[in-house]
Order: sequence, then C-alpha cells, then structure tokens
Amino acid sequence: MQKIELKREMLGRPRRLRVGESVRRLVRETELSLDHLIYPLFVRYGRGIREPILSMPGQFRLSLDELPRELEEVAELEIPAVLLFGLPEHKDELGHGAYDDHGIVQEAVRTAKRNVPELVVITDVCLCAYTSHGHCGLMRDGYVQNDETLELLAQTAVSQATAGADIVAPSAMMDGQVRAIREALDEAGFTERAIMSYSAKYASAFYGPFREAAGSVPQFGDRSGYQMDPANVTEALCEVELDISEGADIVMVKPALAYLDVIRAVRERVDLPLAAYNVSGEYSMIKAAAQNGWLDEKRVVLEILTAIKRAGADCILTYFAKDAARWLDS
Ligand code: PBG
Repeated sequence: MQKIELKREMLGRPRRLRVGESVRRLVRETELSLDHLIYPLFVRYGRGIREPILSMPGQFRLSLDELPRELEEVAELEIPAVLLFGLPEHKDELGHGAYDDHGIVQEAVRTAKRNVPELVVITDVCLCAYTSHGHCGLMRDGYVQNDETLELLAQTAVSQATAGADIVAPSAMMDGQVRAIREALDEAGFTERAIMSYSAKYASAFYGPFREAAGSVPQFGDRSGYQMDPANVTEALCEVELDISEGADIVMVKPALAYLDVIRAVRERVDLPLAAYNVSGEYSMIKAAAQNGWLDEKRVVLEILTAIKRAGADCILTYFAKDAARWLDS
C-alpha cells in the first residue's frame, strides 16, 4: 500500500518534459507564426518624408513615395498584411478626407496594390483622424450621431474598396456599422471584400500614443459614449454576436494585453477568425522600458505575442510585426 502511494507521488514530475529545448518544442502548445501578423502603418502627405513618431520609437509617418520601400520590406519579411491609417491634409466637421476617393488612405492603397500586390491591404474605417473635433462620427449637440455616421462609414469603406483594399476594418464603434458597410460594399459590387470588425473595442487609455501618431485626439470629451467600458466582458460577447449577424468575417478584441480574458471568452463562443490588436500603448511601454535597459525587448515581445495567441487570437495586429518576423526567423 505504502509503496504504491509513493509511486503515485513520483508520477507528478512535469519537469521531465522541460529538460531540454527539443523536448520543450515537442510539447509546446502555442506556436507563434508570422503568418498571422498584421503590421499597422501611418501615411501622410508630402514627399520624401519618413517622420518619426516620438511616442512610438521605431514607427514613422510615411509620405506616399516612401511607402513602396516600406511595403517591400514587409513583404520580404513574409508578413502577410498591413493595416493603413491616414493623416489627411485638412480636417473638417464631417471628416470628408475619410471618404474622399483620392484621400490619403485611398491613394496609399493604390500605391500598395501597384507596387506589392501580394500584400493584403486592410484599411481602418473611422472618421476620428479626419474630423476637426477628433471624434469617430458626425457630431451634433455634443453627441456623436450614430445613424447619420453609418452612411459616412459606408462611403469610406466603399471608397477604400474601390482603391483596392482587400479587407476593411470598421473601428468607429457605431451600432450597425458592419451591416451598413456590408450592404454598401455588396451594392457597389464588392461582394468578395471582407470585413474585419473592431467588435469589442474598449475606451482605453492605451490608445494614447496612437492618437499622437494619427493626430486623432478628441478636442473635447472622450470616447466612452461609443467605445466599450473596460469593466465589461459579457457585453463584448454581445458586440461580437451583433457584428457576426451583420456580416463580419473577422472579429477583433482591442486592446489585447489587458484584455486577454476577453479574447478567451470570445474564442470560446465564436468560430470565425479572431484578431487581437496589440495597441500603441502596449508597444510604447515596452519600447520605453527597453530603451532604459529595464526589459529584454525581444523576449518580452515574443512572450506577449505568444500570450495573445494562447488566449485564443488567430491574427495579431502589432507594431512589433517586423521585429517579431526577424526574431521568429532567426
Ligand atoms: C480609430 C482607431 C484608433 C486605434 C485604431 N483605430 C484610436 C482610437 O480609437 O482612439 C488605436 C490603435 C492603437 O492605439 O494602436 N478609431
């Protein structure tokens, strides 16, 4: 009797499978692959411009003529997709630059498709970088008008698809935006273009550096009237289900790092591809610590990206995509 009990105790030795890298590889549960990385990029007007984004070391605002070189590098690293954000020349109340057929993003898409056609081009569908007030929709009486904004978002998506965008990614958090965009795309003949919806997008302070990068800081108030309350997770499931019923092809949770539980919860409910956005603040925190020598950047980045995958994400949008591609390759 005694002997058997002793033997049982000896069974519990997980360290047997940690003795060397080969064994660890054999039983590793999560595999991070560059096949699932999406690299976000900022484009602007001008010529010969590669303007560093101070709050995001290593990231730049590129003029259109600088874009092909960057995209070729991304393609050479075998990163399959980019996400484009634009900084317009002028902003106005209605965010015209977002749905201008020859707006900055539309021209960036054309440049991308002309130069590196194999790269998947995803476009952010939102008004905040194009409106003078910096909110994501049409503003009246101090309130972002939901239903009137839908028309503008649909127009934005169609103009981006016309320029050649493969996937449009609505991020304005207006109710019904996926349906409005799906219907408009179909009507315009773009039945094969996909929608990656920022379904569970939280009103997060982690977007701080991005807003500096894209010049999209709200001039008054904040986005909690349309983006989600960071305290909620059940509501994320509701947002995701609505988006799927409206025609989303890929759903997204954003940010990623402080929301791994949300990624997991969505993963358990949903069979569609799930994306997670490793946002600007998550990038800048690591960059700042690494620049001070406080963190091993490579190890921390790979650990975080693996954690996002482990939580259940299929695709990861990350400013670390190029670094990760190099590290994964070496
Ligand atoms: C546009 C948009 C934002 C981000 C992606 N699309 C900013 C926001 O909602 O304020 C944030 C991305 C990041 O922080 O990296 N609405």
